[in-house]
Order: sequence, then structure tokens, then C-alpha cells
Amino acid sequence: MTSPDAAGSIQQSLASLRATFRARFEAASTEQALRDENAKILGKKGELTAVLKQMGAVPADARKSIGELVNAVKQEVEGAFEDRLKALARAARAAELDAPAFDLTLPARPPSPLGHAHPISKVRDEIVDVLVSLGFAVHDGPEVELEENNFGKLGFPPDHPATDMQDSFWTTSGTLLRTHTSNIQIRAMTSHAPPMAYIAPGVVYRRDDDATHSPMFHQIECFLVDEHVTLANLRGVLSEFAERFFGAGTPVRLRPSYFPFVEPGAEVDVGCPFCRRPDGTRAGCSVCKRTGWIEILGCGMIHPVVFESCGIDPEKWTGFAFGMGVERVAMVKYGIPDLRLLFENSPRFLAQF
Ligand code: PHE
Repeated sequence: MTSPDAAGSIQQSLASLRATFRARFEAASTEQALRDENAKILGKKGELTAVLKQMGAVPADARKSIGELVNAVKQEVEGAFEDRLKALARAARAAELDAPAFDLTLPARPPSPLGHAHPISKVRDEIVDVLVSLGFAVHDGPEVELEENNFGKLGFPPDHPATDMQDSFWTTSGTLLRTHTSNIQIRAMTSHAPPMAYIAPGVVYRRDDDATHSPMFHQIECFLVDEHVTLANLRGVLSEFAERFFGAGTPVRLRPSYFPFVEPGAEVDVGCPFCRRPDGTRAGCSVCKRTGWIEILGCGMIHPVVFESCGIDPEKWTGFAFGMGVERVAMVKYGIPDLRLLFENSPRFLAQF
């Protein structure tokens, strides 16, 4: 159904739209507001869309001119929308440029202090460095070890107290957390032929926990097997180690002691570094309990029984071995009174190293 009024009513709507749409776009101050306003005109339910729907009612003779008019208005609206969109983008960019600039000269946040190696690791590495400089090579081995390698082949009798549940951590029968690094003597001697000179730094475990004992601690084993090795060679290496590690003139003494895998066996003391006078004598202090000496390791000549259990001829080969506690050496070197300080890891303590 056409009606002669339709053309007039469309013309009226278009005229009022034309008179207002620019101002409506100008009033939109954000991109979203502008898009919303645009949708009110050109969207599915928009004003101009509504006008288009009335075209069917326009009499045929007026349709062409009214159609052209509608299209012209539509293009004007679209053009104005695009212009306003660009204007808003330009304004946003200008505001950004006018805003206070970042101050690139501000100082950076203070860097957080760098960490460093734990004192146990440091001391272990220092000991290893000294022994490597004397010609020993590093040999690795497991912390979960066969009873045989930790005890049996080292000459421990089956009822030795160290093999007791009270003293060692057993995983299954016949397997335990190694109680010392001497297992590496067995592992090296059953897999390589002599001569050999090895050190074995590592973690060991015992059922012990007080101011001077920790259930987990670190040892370094050192051993040498060759022809004609004597106690003098052992003593020479120990003296050289003490000089290089604790400082020139540090004296060493051997006190007879017992370990099943050495004969003779000894405990080794170094001259107390805390009360040493310039001439090398020691006044005696609380660290060395007024004796002038501090014990740092166990040692001895490798027992023929150990060679035999590894298939090495004890008539031909001889050797020495020693094993020291890394924590013990660290305590001596730095005058640390309580072993537990090394494991509590308070930053105030660690920062001193
Ligand atoms: N393994 C011994 C211990 O843990 C130390 C030691 C090593 C003694 C080598 C003699 C020879 O106490």
C-alpha cells in the first residue's frame, strides 16, 4: 500500500536527522559513546533504518528521488561517524603525549643482595682444590650403599657396633645410607687396578644429633695405592694439606687410633689456628680446649684385609687412606662453635662467609 503522505513523512524525518546527527556525534566523548550513538541511527533498530523500511509506502513516481535522498543522508552520517572516530583517536594520542613523561633518570630499585655458596660447599671445594693440586682425582659413588661396601669389605666384623640399628640408617636388609665415604675405597679398588690416587667428597649419614653431630654430614675420603707406600707418604700429604689449607707453618700430629680398615690407624690433629703465636707455638684457647691441637680426621695404612676383599695383592700393593669431616674442618677454620649453625641457614650467619 502506497500513500502520498509517506514521501512527506520520510522527508521530514530525514531533515530532522540531518539537522542533528553531527551535534550528537560531537557530544560523544568516548569511542564507545560514539559507536552507541551511531547504532541508534544506522543500527538494525536505528532511526535511518526505520526510515528505509517506509520506502515501500512511497508512490512509485517519488521513489527515485526519496531513495537518493535517503542514501545521501546515510553517506553523510557514515562520513561524520568516521571523522569523529578519527578525531577521538587523535585526541587520545595528544592527551598521552601531553601527560607527564616517564622519568628515565630515576634510580633503579636497589638490587637485592647476591647469594653465594654455602660455607659447607665452600670449604668442601677448598679441600678438594688442595688435594687435586696434590695429584688426587675425584671419584664419585652412591649414598645408598650395600652393607658389604660400607662395612664388610672394609673389615668390619658383622657384630661391629657401627652396623647397629642405633647407629646407621638401614633402608632394607643389606642396604643402608653410607655411614662414611670409605665405601669409595672399595668401589675404586674393585673397579680399577692399582696404582690409584683418589678423593671422594660426599654426604654421609649416622644416627647422631647434637651440637657436634648431625644425622647428615659431609666427608672427604682420600686414598692412594701404589708399590712401596709408607706412613711417611701419608704424613707428608697430611702436612702439605695442613700447610696449604690452614696456612704455612700449621703443624700436624698423628695419635694412634683404631679403624677396622687401616693398620696402623691414627687420628690427626692440626695445630689450633686460633691461638697460634707468630713462632708457631700455641697458647691454648677455648676452641682447642687449651690443648693447642684440634682433631680433624682419621687415617691409616690400608689394611691387607681390604686389599684382599677387593682382589688386590697386599704383598705387592700398599696404600694409605684418610677421611675428614667437612663440617668439622669448617668449624675449625672459621671458629664456628655449634655444628647446627651450618644447617639452620640463618641469613645473618651465612652472610659472614
Ligand atoms: N671412615 C672413617 C670415619 O668415618 C675415617 C677414616 C677414613 C679413617 C680413612 C681411616 C681411614 O670415621
